[in-house]
Amino acid sequence: MFQRLQQKWKVNGFQLILILCTFAIGGSLTGIVGKKLMNLFQIDQRGLWLLIYIIVVTLVWPFAVMLISVPFGQYQFFAGYLAKMGRRIGLTGKRVQQDTEKSKYNDNLGLCHGQGKEMIHIAIFASGAGSNAKKIIDHFKNSDHINISLVVCNKPGAGVSAIAANENIPSIVIDKDQFFRGDAYTGVFMEKKIGFIVLAGFLWKIPDKLIEVFPGKIINIHPALLPGFGGKGMYGNYVHEAVIAAGEKESGITIHFVDGHYDNGDIIFQAKCHVYENDTAATLAERIHMLEYEHYPRVIEKLLSE
Ligand code: GRF
Repeated sequence: MFQRLQQKWKVNGFQLILILCTFAIGGSLTGIVGKKLMNLFQIDQRGLWLLIYIIVVTLVWPFAVMLISVPFGQYQFFAGYLAKMGRRIGLTGKRVQQDTEKSKYNDNLGLCHGQGKEMIHIAIFASGAGSNAKKIIDHFKNSDHINISLVVCNKPGAGVSAIAANENIPSIVIDKDQFFRGDAYTGVFMEKKIGFIVLAGFLWKIPDKLIEVFPGKIINIHPALLPGFGGKGMYGNYVHEAVIAAGEKESGITIHFVDGHYDNGDIIFQAKCHVYENDTAATLAERIHMLEYEHYPRVIEKLLSE
C-alpha cells in the first residue's frame, strides 16, 4: 500500500512519512478546532449538530493540513493536493500550467492551428539512457495526431537506440561534423515529415541552421530551475551536484524552447521539488526524473494540441 502511495504521489519513502504525519496531525487539529467552534456557537446537540460539525470540519481541514505541512516541509505537496481536490469537486478551475505565456508560444509554433487532426511527426534527440524518450514514446503510442517518427542519437550504443529499436521507431546515429554543418540531416527530417523536435538528454548544442529550419519547434528539458544551474557543461549529475553545493532548498525541471545558446530559450514550463539536506546527486536526480516523466509528455501534448 505504501509503495502504491509513493508511486501515486511520486514521492520517496521519507517524504511519504512526512505527508502521512501531516495528514494525521492535520486531522487531529481539525477535530479539536471543529469541537471548539461548535462549543463557541453553542449549537444544539440534538438538532443539526452532526451535519454542522461535518461542514465545519470540512472547512477547517484544508487550513489545518496546510498549517501542519509547513513545519513538515510538505507545503508544496499539500498545495498541489488541495488544488487537485478542488478541481475534482469543481471548486477551482482547470489547472493553469506555470507556462502562463504558452499561448504566445503557440502562435510561434505555427502548428495545429486550424489543421484539425493532421499528424505531427516528432523527432526525439537523445544522447543517453533515454528514459524520458521512453516515457514520451509510451505517452503518444495511441495518439491520433502525434507520432514519434524518429529517434536521433549522437552516441553509438546509447540506451535510447535500443529503446527505439524495441518500439520499432526508426533511429539514426548522427555524425558530429555533419550535424554541425546544420543542414546535413534535414533530408532525413523532411523524409520523415518531422514537424517538431524534442530534446531529451541531448548533449550537443543545436546548430543555428537547424533552429532556422525548425523555428520555435525545438524544445528541451533541463533538470533544474533555469536560469539557474544551466549553460555549457551543466548536464546530468553536474547540475544536481551544483544545486546541492549551492545549498538550494528547491530544484526542479524547466521545459524551454531552444535557441542558439545552451539552456537559454523562452521557458514553457517549470515544476519544483524539494532538495533535502541528506540529498546526493543520485537521490535528487531520481526525484527530478519523476517530475520529468510526469510533465514532459503532457507539456509536449499540450503545446501541440492547442
Ligand atoms: C534528463 O534529466 C534531462 O533533464 C536532461 O538529461 C536527462 C536525460 O535522462 N536533459 P534520460 O536519458 O532521459 O534518462
